[in-house]
Amino acid sequence: MRKNPYPGKFIVFEGLDGSGQSTQVKLLAEFLKRKKHQVLTTKEPTLDSTAGKLIRKVLDKKKKIPPQKLQELYARDRQEHLKKVIIPALKKGKTVISDRYFFSSFAYGGLDVPFSYLLKINDKFLLPDLVFFINTKPETCILRIDKRGKKNTFFECKDKLEKVYWKYKKILKKFKNVVVINGEISISRIHQEIKKYV
Ligand SMILES: Nc1ncnc2c1ncn2[C@@H]1O[C@H](COP(=O)(O)OP(=O)(O)O)[C@@H](O)[C@H]1O
Ligand SMILES: [Mg+2]
Repeated sequence: MRKNPYPGKFIVFEGLDGSGQSTQVKLLAEFLKRKKHQVLTTKEPTLDSTAGKLIRKVLDKKKKIPPQKLQELYARDRQEHLKKVIIPALKKGKTVISDRYFFSSFAYGGLDVPFSYLLKINDKFLLPDLVFFINTKPETCILRIDKRGKKNTFFECKDKLEKVYWKYKKILKKFKNVVVINGEISISRIHQEIKKYV
């Protein structure tokens, strides 16, 4: 992995589903735009690349592939996204804020695929300048997901989110520039916290 050599800053948000990442990406982008920064917000996986389209089918349970193959698709989608979207924006000096990045592959993919393999297929990618991990407990995430209206059996969901949560904690320790933000407080208080680091 290589450091960001471009003039723009690369900020990544990570967390469990329902932790509040998308909410905070939007608030931070609005804040930076008010401060006259040029901002590009984006998210992973994309729906643009061939790999991204396949991932969508797998997530929608319309297609089945082995976990390792799925992680290879995520890496391929990421590579294309970096080349076509993220790096061109960073070159222009824009601040890029991404809703998820390779840390998600390590945490979610890490349930089925060895970390060493995940590291290998993500090895060429740019390191973010700053990573925010929205630290929201699995129970809280499930309550929020339920409110959003997506139906899932509580235990199925909770069991998996617990495992992903601990994977995140483990892998984030291996990286610099990671800020853990308490995700249990109000949306505006979280935003205030995040602003302190940007
Ligand atoms: N700090 C918070 N407190 C209470 N509800 C929140 C908070 N942050 C987000 N939410 C709500 O939880 C749901 C999931 O938030 P979202 O930002 O979409 O999460 P993610 O992108 O991490 O899956 C949304 O309905 C959102 O309004
Ligand atoms: Mg989201």
